[in-house]
Amino acid sequence: MRFAEHTIRRRRLLQWSAAAAVAPGLAAPACAAESSGASPVAEGQPFPRGVSLPSSPPPAPDADSVGIAIVGLGGYALAQIMPAFASARGCHIAALVSGNEEKAKRVAAAYGLEEDSIYNYENFDDIAADDRVDAVYIILPSGLHADWTEKAFAAGKHVLCEKPMALSAGECERMIAASTKAGRKLMIGYRCHFEPCNLRAMALMRDSAIGDLRLIRTAHQYRTGMATPAENWRLNRALAGGGPLEDYGLYGLQAALYLTGEMPSSVSAYTLQPENDARFREIFAHVSTQLQFPSGAVAQLATSYDSFGVNALTARGASGALVMEPATSYRGNTMLLQSYGSSETLTPGESSVQFAEQLSHFADAVREDVVIKTPGEMGLRDVRLIEAIYQSAATGRKLALNPDGTVAS
Ligand SMILES: NC(=O)c1ccc[n+]([C@@H]2O[C@H](COP(=O)([O-])OP(=O)(O)OC[C@H]3O[C@@H](n4cnc5c(N)ncnc54)[C@H](OP(=O)(O)O)[C@@H]3O)[C@@H](O)[C@H]2O)c1
Repeated sequence: MRFAEHTIRRRRLLQWSAAAAVAPGLAAPACAAESSGASPVAEGQPFPRGVSLPSSPPPAPDADSVGIAIVGLGGYALAQIMPAFASARGCHIAALVSGNEEKAKRVAAAYGLEEDSIYNYENFDDIAADDRVDAVYIILPSGLHADWTEKAFAAGKHVLCEKPMALSAGECERMIAASTKAGRKLMIGYRCHFEPCNLRAMALMRDSAIGDLRLIRTAHQYRTGMATPAENWRLNRALAGGGPLEDYGLYGLQAALYLTGEMPSSVSAYTLQPENDARFREIFAHVSTQLQFPSGAVAQLATSYDSFGVNALTARGASGALVMEPATSYRGNTMLLQSYGSSETLTPGESSVQFAEQLSHFADAVREDVVIKTPGEMGLRDVRLIEAIYQSAATGRKLALNPDGTVAS
C-alpha cells in the first residue's frame, strides 16, 4: 500500500473510532468519510425494470388465511415475494403500502386488490383499523426497517421483516421490544432456512457427514453499476449501512453459523473503501472476515460490490467436503458431497420453493403459534456480529466475542 493511501485509510479509521466513542450504538460504517448524514425517508420509486405482473389475479383466500400487507413495491417484492403467495399456505396479500400511487394501482389490479387496500407512507397508520390486514411484510431499504416495523407493531400487526433486520443492534433491540409490547410476532426474512439445499446442508453438518468441521469459505460478490449514493439506496449509508456485508455477505455469515451450529469466539476482518469511486463514497467495496469457533472450525467470508460475480460456499471437514455453487441463490442451488474416493451430487429439491415456504411458516406462526425459525433475536445476533466485524476492521485487531455476538470487553 502506498504511504498516502495508508494515511487516508488510517485517518478514516480514527474518524470511525472517534464516532464510535461518542455513540457506542452507532453502526460501524460511520467510518465512511463523506456520508450525507441525512435521516432515511420512505419515498416511492418507479416500477422496477424487467419485472412482470401476473396475468390473472389469485383465487379468493380461505376464511382463516392470514392477510399480509406488502410494504414497498420494489424488485424483490414484485419479482420474488408476491408471486410466491400463489403456492404459499395459509396467507394471502391483503394490502399494499407504496409511495408510488400509480405503480400501486397497477399492482393492485394485477393481484385483484380493491383500491381501498392501497396505503402510502403518509396514511400508513390507518392500516390499524383495517381488519383485512393481520400482518405486514417490510420489504423497504434496510435503513427503514426499524422505523416501519415499529409503526406496524403500533398498528397492532404482526411483522415479517426483510434482512438485514436493521443497521444497528440498538435498532434491532427496539424492534424486539416493540414486538413484545404489542404482543405480535416478529420474523426475519432469512429465506435460506426454507431452501432445500441449505436445509440439507444443515442436516449433513448435524450428522457429521464430512467429519469434524475445519473450514467454511463463502463468497458473495458482484459488481454494482456506476451510480451515486443518491441514485442507488444500496450505496447510501443511511439506507444500506456499510454495504455489501449487510446485503449480500450476510448469507455467508448466516451459513457459517447454521453450518457450524456455533457462535464464533473471535473475529478479525478487513474492509476496503476505494478512493475516487462515487459508488463507494459512503459504503465499503469489499469486506473480508475470519471467524474462529470454539470447536476449532474457522470461517472465511468474502463479500464485495466490485468483483466478478460469485455465490458459493465450501464446508471442509476431516473426512470430506460440501461444495455449493450457487449456494444461496433464488433458484438452482447445487450441492456436491465429497469424501475420500467418492463424489455425489445431491438434489434435495428446487430452491425456488423457499419463498413460499417462508411465507407459509410465517402464517403458521401467526395462526398456530408455531415457534419462528428466524426470529428477531437471530437478526439481532447477526447485526451484533456485523458491528463486531466493522470494529475489528476499523481497529485492525482480532476481537474476542461473547456468545451473544457482542465484543468482549
Ligand atoms: N432475502 C432476499 O433474498 C432479498 C433479496 C433482495 C432484497 N432483499 C431485501 O429487501 C429489501 C428491499 O430490497 P429491493 O431489492 O426490493 O429494493 P428495491 O428494488 O430498490 O425496492 C425498494 C422499494 O422500497 C420502497 N422505498 C421506500 N423508500 C425508499 C427509498 N428512500 N429509497 C428506495 N426505495 C424506497 C420503494 O417502493 P415503493 O415505490 O412502492 O414505495 C422501492 O421500490 C431490502 O431490505 C433488501 O435487503 C432481500
